[in-house]
Amino acid sequence: MFTELDPHAERLRGTTLRALFADDPERAERMSVQAGTLLLDFSKNLLDAPAVEALLQLARDRGLEQRREAMFTGEHINTTEDRAVLHTALRRPADAPLEVDGQDVTAAVQEVLGRMAAFTDSVRSGERTGATGQRFTTVVNIGIGGSDLGPRMVVRALRRSLDGTLAARFVANVDGADLETALDGLDAASTLFVVCSKTFTTAETLANAAAARRWLVDALGEDAVGRHFVAVSTNAEEVRTFGISEDEMFGFWDWVGGRYSLTSAVGLSIMLAIGTAQFRELLAGFADLDEHFRTAPVERNLPVLLALVGVWNRNVLGMSTLAVLPYSQDLELLPAYLQQLDMESNGKSVTLDGAPAGTDTGPIVWGQPGTNGQHAFYQLLHQGTTPVPCDMIAFLAPLSDLTDQHDVLMANCLAQTQALAFGRTPQEVAAAGIGPELVPHRTFPGNRPSNTLVVDALTPRALGQLVAAYEHKVFVQGVLWGVNSFDQWGVELGKTLATALVKRLHGEQGGAALDSSTDRLLTLYRDRRGSS
Ligand code: F6P
Repeated sequence: MFTELDPHAERLRGTTLRALFADDPERAERMSVQAGTLLLDFSKNLLDAPAVEALLQLARDRGLEQRREAMFTGEHINTTEDRAVLHTALRRPADAPLEVDGQDVTAAVQEVLGRMAAFTDSVRSGERTGATGQRFTTVVNIGIGGSDLGPRMVVRALRRSLDGTLAARFVANVDGADLETALDGLDAASTLFVVCSKTFTTAETLANAAAARRWLVDALGEDAVGRHFVAVSTNAEEVRTFGISEDEMFGFWDWVGGRYSLTSAVGLSIMLAIGTAQFRELLAGFADLDEHFRTAPVERNLPVLLALVGVWNRNVLGMSTLAVLPYSQDLELLPAYLQQLDMESNGKSVTLDGAPAGTDTGPIVWGQPGTNGQHAFYQLLHQGTTPVPCDMIAFLAPLSDLTDQHDVLMANCLAQTQALAFGRTPQEVAAAGIGPELVPHRTFPGNRPSNTLVVDALTPRALGQLVAAYEHKVFVQGVLWGVNSFDQWGVELGKTLATALVKRLHGEQGGAALDSSTDRLLTLYRDRRGSS
């Protein structure tokens, strides 16, 4: 697969980033692209201009431009679920109707956004109170996966946009410790719950929502539920069954994938925390990058180039992971968010027509904020046997009032990309007076690829641009690998097996015989539970 890239791989075999930079003083400028307030410098990758051109041609040959248009116009590109993929419609201009499957999706989106805004304003102003007449001071979002990671990450990232009107907390794990921690110190009378689940059938979310409901009822009585619980879902029937009326439900549609849903009603807890105006700024940021992705020529298209560099590292250089390293404490949750976005989308081994993918697909995405990671796992990044491509994300404007420390943060970010790319040769180590026995230990191989994404400031708009850039990157890679980036059948088996094991734990007899390992471990747990 991708044999078109072979001659380029051959030509570049053995070359070094030192040589590539020495050969072309304009390399950084040539291998940088701007979109909105984002600047991507991909020059510290083991690529040259002809290789980039070959990758661009590959994208054209794979029909990227047609596939992109098919997504934006609502074709059912999620073929295994027969659905359109229209998260871009969630941030489309209000005056740009889009008819898909007989529905004007822009009008539908605006209607929900209007209801979200009215609700948010009434809660934030104190007009809508809890059952006892107290103002809400905390919103607790109960959801998991795409119904948690996006809102959680955005609220954490936009610390500076929070005005303290409403604090947001998040509960995801079915481990009761998560809910207990989230409820710790809260007063039921001033707590609003958003139960967020696209399907409203997710076991973890329903268990946590039921427990939260009991907590509220214990404090305020059954009648309080209607004032303190709202739902975000596509499943009105299950929401009703849970006991939340349709008036208190904010809907979205099956054409919004969970991991692409933070700009839908799933973002309600974000809107409650940062207010409607800032939420609209966030949407505007997404829209900026949607427009860029849809209209910029592929050779100047930031998400396209980010994706193609990733394909080069994955498929030509055989690198199986991607480290996301935000040099921003406020973006500490971005790696976890991108993990779902990327790995649930492109962690596939068959193509759209069900044939084996025939090539490596989505990488393992992981990461931590810099500089923390430098003192933990960067040792392996610099001298380990597994090269790891890195996405460094940095901000020009300081994110804290300790502006001097921002200089140190930025210097560290750039220094890491230097060390990864150019390393330190044995000769340089020896020339620095290091004894021969230590030279191998203190040599850095270099030639380790990294992207640097520079953002002006961590505003709602810039954050929207950044996240949309990654959404579209994932899309482009899915097109190149020929997979469906919008289903997630791979999570189903585990759910089914867990349900069966819960039944056994609750004493249900029968069912298929268990393997000896699972059987033994289950017995161990049951015995311990029985004796506690
Ligand atoms: O199990 C995976 C998944 O379906 C994700 O794709 C999704 O984001 C998450 O579960 C939560 O689903 P829901 O929003 O329906 O509760």
